[in-house]
Amino acid sequence: MSAIEEIKQKLDIVEIAGRYTQLTKAGKNFKGVCPFHQEKHGSFFVFPDRQSWHCFGACSTGGDIFSLVMKKEGIEFAEALKMLAVRAGVTLPVRGRETLEKQQHARLYEANEAARDYYYNLFNTSREAEKARQYALSRGLNAQSLMDFKLGFSPSGRENLKKHLLEKGFSEKELLDAGLVIKTETGFIDRFHNRLMFPINNTAGRTTGFGGREMDGSQPKYLNSPESPVFDKSGILYGLDLAREEIRRRDQVVLVEGYMDVIIARQYGFTNTVAAMGTAISEKQIDAIKKLTRNLVLAMDADEAGEKAVLRGIEHENSLGSEIKVALMSPGLDPDAVIRQSAQDWSKAVNDAEPLVDFIISKAAAECDLSSAAGKSRLVDRILPVIAQMNNLVRQAHYLQKLSKMVNVNESRLEASLKEMKTRNQTGFQYAKPEVARTGRPLLSNQREEYCLALLIQHPQLRQKAVELETEYFSSTENALIFSLLSAGDDIETVKNKLDFATLEYMERLGTRPLIPGGLERKLEECVLLLKENYLRTLMQNQEAILSSAGLSATEKEALLEESMKIGDQLKSVFWQKSKNTERIKKENNASEK
Ligand code: CTP
Ligand code: MN
Repeated sequence: MSAIEEIKQKLDIVEIAGRYTQLTKAGKNFKGVCPFHQEKHGSFFVFPDRQSWHCFGACSTGGDIFSLVMKKEGIEFAEALKMLAVRAGVTLPVRGRETLEKQQHARLYEANEAARDYYYNLFNTSREAEKARQYALSRGLNAQSLMDFKLGFSPSGRENLKKHLLEKGFSEKELLDAGLVIKTETGFIDRFHNRLMFPINNTAGRTTGFGGREMDGSQPKYLNSPESPVFDKSGILYGLDLAREEIRRRDQVVLVEGYMDVIIARQYGFTNTVAAMGTAISEKQIDAIKKLTRNLVLAMDADEAGEKAVLRGIEHENSLGSEIKVALMSPGLDPDAVIRQSAQDWSKAVNDAEPLVDFIISKAAAECDLSSAAGKSRLVDRILPVIAQMNNLVRQAHYLQKLSKMVNVNESRLEASLKEMKTRNQTGFQYAKPEVARTGRPLLSNQREEYCLALLIQHPQLRQKAVELETEYFSSTENALIFSLLSAGDDIETVKNKLDFATLEYMERLGTRPLIPGGLERKLEECVLLLKENYLRTLMQNQEAILSSAGLSATEKEALLEESMKIGDQLKSVFWQKSKNTERIKKENNASEK
């Protein structure tokens, strides 16, 4: 986690803003007299859900905790970062230390990659690896797959890899840190013996560890690298480095269990497949996925699916901002087996995947006798908590209706129980920083923001064209920061010098992100429009939330309504520009057809 994120998690904007102006509650939000301009009535609002602020008065601007502090204290980002880090108790990484850490990481990657090449080479050339080659063949792996995934073979000797890597200049400590050797009473020996080796890469394609499969029934079936500074098993998705682009392109990811499933899936053209490597999906993995797509299909064995699906499923849906789907396979069959039997069946299973919640409901319903009152009540007891977790009200209503039909109980009854359940969970504290702030970022717009910044970074001449773009349109601190520095007219190097380390790295990635050439100016224009639209809509939503809450004076309401109209007008003008653009494109298409 970057320092920025950590600070945002630890601090609460309500508390920080409360030091600059006195806040009172307005519904679930807070209002006060704007700390930035002179006014009698409160037009300054703080939104705990989004951890953001906005002045609907003369300033007509807003942002997050960082922009609040920068503006109020009149300081630059770097200073605000220091100040907030102290408050949050977050130690900011020192650049020197980070460089050192980076160097160490680099050595671990290099060691893993040298081991990967060594195993790969043995697999292809050594006589001892004949059984591994036979095994791979028996599992239906073709030459392309072996190459794509660089499958290898670890020999049965005690110190083969160690000797090879020491000769290459790695130290025993480095090999130990990378998990490639283990310490015994008599010294260091190789961790992996006589196994088929699956290199595990991070998203960037660097090798961070291995899974080694036995081929003779020895235990365990898979031996994996231990956690290391570069190998965080719960954060990595196997195959993601190869599948990334396809996931983005198809706008869908299929999540399977194992190494073999990923490889076979890719071999048969299902190139958007990744594996969580046998563990439950983690929030980190969801984060990695949502940078690419919001459409997640879980491929699961019907036997095990039940518990795994319910486990944090809704939480993940909330975080993805969309519905997760479940593709069911017959008990005991792995995707690898299904695909090899019939790629068509697999394709169908994925296409027919059922929404997770429907799956949870039908699974639960099958275990309750719905002809009896007790059975119905059991189903309600099991499903209502699931529905209560959803943060999308439309979906919540949809499933309440579904449940109501299933148990033949009035929807309003169920709704009442749901409300009761929610208040029961909420009593005992007055105000707590809501969790949603962390996950509630609009994902699509983030991708758009990234695209927009990549354009501006890589094509400086476009920066003058982006006059309509405002810092507030960017929803993440990092994006807003980069944009505000860029738009201040600084050159890229100056901008980079003002960034913290994580944001610097992020910006460097944006600077090298491949962009499809052609019509960039127009693409930028469209992107800006969409960001603006998104921003205005959010603003509108926030305003509606405030207006519908109690605790506003008539004057305040009036002022807000006036502001509302202005936002409405701006939105209209965005729509108008959009439709103009569409028309123009149509015309051009027609012209080119003629
Ligand atoms: N796994 C593991 N350690 C084990 C068993 C399993 O790390 N001892 C992880 C591996 O990532 C494995 C995944 O869980 O790929 C799924 O396990 P399983 O279904 O048992 O293995 P498969 O990948 O299906 O392997 P195979 O088809 O070769 O049996
Ligand atoms: Mn399998």
